[in-house]
Amino acid sequence: MVKRKDFKLVAAWHNDLPVGFAFGYQLLPAYGWHKVLGPPMQKAGHSAWLDNVFCLAEMAVVPDYWGMGIGGLLHDSLFDGLTYPRFLLSTMQDDSTNGYQMYLKRGWFDLIENYWVSAVDRSYRVMGKWGEL
Ligand SMILES: CC(C)(COP(=O)(O)OP(=O)(O)OC[C@H]1O[C@@H](n2cnc3c(N)ncnc32)[C@H](O)[C@@H]1OP(=O)(O)O)[C@@H](O)C(=O)NCCC(=O)NCCS
Repeated sequence: MVKRKDFKLVAAWHNDLPVGFAFGYQLLPAYGWHKVLGPPMQKAGHSAWLDNVFCLAEMAVVPDYWGMGIGGLLHDSLFDGLTYPRFLLSTMQDDSTNGYQMYLKRGWFDLIENYWVSAVDRSYRVMGKWGEL
């Protein structure tokens, strides 16, 4: 079992079936994603974003339930009560995705663009959001 510091998961249910989830955790230097992001974030002058940061690791809503406000609620519930100075996420580079549009509406901004992940042969962006500390 992989343990993550300050792991938090929220889920949405309809008729006893899960229809969406979001989870994240504090990104510590020992974690793989921290090691991968280190060099490009440093190069872009964003090293501070890897310190004392909570990352949104994954979120998704079942497609039949898109556009009903569930993703927004999951996002807001996940971050509610978290006292970090910074938040971080990675999402596909494509500007047209629902996820990217949702993040922009919720105060996220680009830190790195066209960040290539060879394991999936696709480019991603890294986004940041200020916490309320
Ligand atoms: C991204 C995703 C979770 C959104 O879920 P959802 O339930 O459809 O989201 P909501 O209906 O709550 O919409 C959230 C907000 O994003 C906005 N939004 C969503 N798609 C949009 C689009 N294509 N263009 C503009 N705004 C969009 C909504 O207007 C809403 O804004 P508001 O809360 O200010 O009114 C869902 O599309 C999904 O699971 N996508 C596939 C997985 C994915 O991409 N996950 C994120 C990867 S990091």
